[in-house]
Amino acid sequence: MIRVAAVGDLHVGPDSAGALREQLSGIHEKADVLLIAGDLTKGGEPEEAEALALELEGLSVRVVAVLGNHDHHADRPAEIAGLLREAGVAVLEGDAVRIDTPGGSLGVAGVKGFGGGFSGASGAEFGEPEMKAFIRHTKERSEALESALASLETDVRIALLHYAPVRETLLGEPPEIFPFLGSYLLAEAVDRSGADLVIHGHAHRGTEHGVTPGGVNVRNVAQTVIRQAYAIYGFDAGGRREWATAGRGAHDGQGLWEGRASRDAASSAPASER
Ligand SMILES: [Fe+2]
Ligand SMILES: [Fe+2]
Repeated sequence: MIRVAAVGDLHVGPDSAGALREQLSGIHEKADVLLIAGDLTKGGEPEEAEALALELEGLSVRVVAVLGNHDHHADRPAEIAGLLREAGVAVLEGDAVRIDTPGGSLGVAGVKGFGGGFSGASGAEFGEPEMKAFIRHTKERSEALESALASLETDVRIALLHYAPVRETLLGEPPEIFPFLGSYLLAEAVDRSGADLVIHGHAHRGTEHGVTPGGVNVRNVAQTVIRQAYAIYGFDAGGRREWATAGRGAHDGQGLWEGRASRDAASSAPASER
């Protein structure tokens, strides 16, 4: 059995120091690896990444992450990724990592992804340069995901994203902002290369469960969606059957999950601030 813990949208800042470390204590008893689906920081500032690095350094399981839009906000994503890598985190962007666990080999391919919308209601690479650049970025990140997934020869393959590949896991968000929350191009990339699971975040008010048109399970693990420190997804050695269990509860008073306060904040934030 391969056990995967996953969470997204931690939005860590210096003011939240200590809360995460406590939530993650004992994680090795429940999971073989921790995946973090972007928005690691509040505003992409290096001191926020340093605070997170302190929390993750020396953790009892391997940590794999992608950056989110918040981690790009200060235009210093390379510094954010570098600080986390110094703490031992595998920060992916168009590449993949293999982790050998007692239950089998796990491959994780990661990209941030981007928006553009979903079939029937999506943007196109047409018109103004800004619109072409928007959709081109999504296409490039989707192609990078497809290549990274295809490079993996492991028992289980997971796509780790920040943006959503399907609309199902956005349900709960205003439909008007779906094009800013993800793109169907990401799902097409997953279905072409194949995967056992897609993990993403970004949609704070979305829904945990979805599936790609090709039948790959999708899980939105934004912390305000899973309402716990992390969700756990398990795979048999053959890699094709997923089961899910809860991680530590949301209501254990440790302060990492901020309950209705953060959910309400998400509801009033513009789409670009998810
Ligand atoms: Fe986000
Ligand atoms: Fe977020």
